[in-house]
Amino acid sequence: TRGKKHGPLIGALDQGTSSSRFLVFAAESGELLTFHQIEIPRHCPREGWVEQDAKLLFSAIVTCIDKTVDNLRKLGVDPEDIKAVGITNQRETIIAWDKLSGEPLYNAIVWLDTRTASEVDEILSNPNKKAQTERIRNLCGLPISTYFSALKMKWLLENIPAVKCAVEEERCLFGTVDSWLIWNLTGGKSGGLHVTDVTNASRTMLMNIHNLEWDSYLCDYFKIPPTLLPTIRSSSEIYGNFSVTSLRGVPISGILGDQQAALVGQMCLKPGQAKCTYGTGCFLLFNTGKQIIQSSHGLITTVAYKLGPNRPATYALEGSVAVAGAAIRWLRDNLSLASSYEEIDEMAANVRDSGGVYFVPAFSGLFAPHWRPDARGIICGLTEHSTKSHIARAAYEAVSFQVRDVLEAMNQEGGFPLTQLQVDGGMTNNNGLMQLQADILGIDTVRPSMAETTALGAAMAAGCAEGIEVWDIFSEDTNNIICDVFKPKTEPKERDERYWKWKEAVKRSCGWEV
Ligand code: G3P
Repeated sequence: TRGKKHGPLIGALDQGTSSSRFLVFAAESGELLTFHQIEIPRHCPREGWVEQDAKLLFSAIVTCIDKTVDNLRKLGVDPEDIKAVGITNQRETIIAWDKLSGEPLYNAIVWLDTRTASEVDEILSNPNKKAQTERIRNLCGLPISTYFSALKMKWLLENIPAVKCAVEEERCLFGTVDSWLIWNLTGGKSGGLHVTDVTNASRTMLMNIHNLEWDSYLCDYFKIPPTLLPTIRSSSEIYGNFSVTSLRGVPISGILGDQQAALVGQMCLKPGQAKCTYGTGCFLLFNTGKQIIQSSHGLITTVAYKLGPNRPATYALEGSVAVAGAAIRWLRDNLSLASSYEEIDEMAANVRDSGGVYFVPAFSGLFAPHWRPDARGIICGLTEHSTKSHIARAAYEAVSFQVRDVLEAMNQEGGFPLTQLQVDGGMTNNNGLMQLQADILGIDTVRPSMAETTALGAAMAAGCAEGIEVWDIFSEDTNNIICDVFKPKTEPKERDERYWKWKEAVKRSCGWEV
């Protein structure tokens, strides 16, 4: 890379649940030149509550930008070649802040947070509210759940005096993580932009997925004043320019929720194409083109992308799993099973199987396709023979079984079974997990050699925006992705027996929290 000419560069800010990153790609080759990453802590002040420090989310991004720009200089690459930056982020996480002081009014409430579970339960258990929840689902594509932003916003408005007061005094702004970052990066209290894109807005439960606008019925239902919400824009256009960091003056021209960004980064731009990203959670997205498909098998309907103000929106069916990598982090941090992820990987690789141990990591209830806020984590099947290695192995198996749960739902939905699973995300570096996934699904697991597809997708959206146009995302050449293929090594009988046991374990985890 040193001294080489790369042509125009595009940056990608990726603010995920577990880390913040800034990455720089060469637009012509798609090559990743350098990046910097910082792990972000989560706080659980009460059972079921998951929060992050909103100021830290921003300051970590600033540090990542500074370090990455330093890295570029060390590589002999001119940071001035960065022509635009795209933003991708953990979705649904909500922040309320004061537009006059620039201060957050409360911690970011993370998508994994279940503090609104009793409200969800009350709505779902009331037969008189069935028609209403159906109407909501048709408008926003989502079931009532603790997962999405609207109930979190409602909780803030009802429980946090600083938020109530700021709303009365017209100082309060709400936003998902993309909005919070852009507002701060484009001037903050001295005129920051209050915007979001269609993909992030589609996770709030407040956007009508048909017309891509804040919906008055939904805002009324959740009692959220639309004046608090950002302006909804496409996923690819120049929103404004950096006014801070060494990127001052550089346009911000792409926003995509992280799972949608991975769909774009994996070039799943045609109906019928799908990808599964393994991060804190695990998310399988299936491109349904211009069609809005309402699932009858526990999947959700979401906007996949809208690559320009004058381009149509593309939709997707999504199977969201709350806990994937988070289960491994829990083994490391909460159980102190080992001091690093690598050690846990080794432990899991040391045993042939989980020795009959099943681990359902339903820490935030279960999302797709079950939607059981009352589920809680369980480890079952323990005997005196069980060791740490079996538990570590069971955690990886849980990730693969949960993907099978959503894949089966997806196959029932479309009628065209997926014949291979395209994967990406941090956990997919683990070859053992990839083989396990193929063995549990009985289809090939296909991993691109470039694992940073989430950031790549955000960079592509930023690079193809009108006025930037250094990245031709629709060119067929960009489709040549080199992949590793993991083939199933199990027989159908063995697969199905193990999967049956998993389903029994899931049943036992449900109804725990009553
Ligand atoms: O919906 C939550 C999702 O966007 C979080 O993604 O990569 O942080 O697990 P990740």
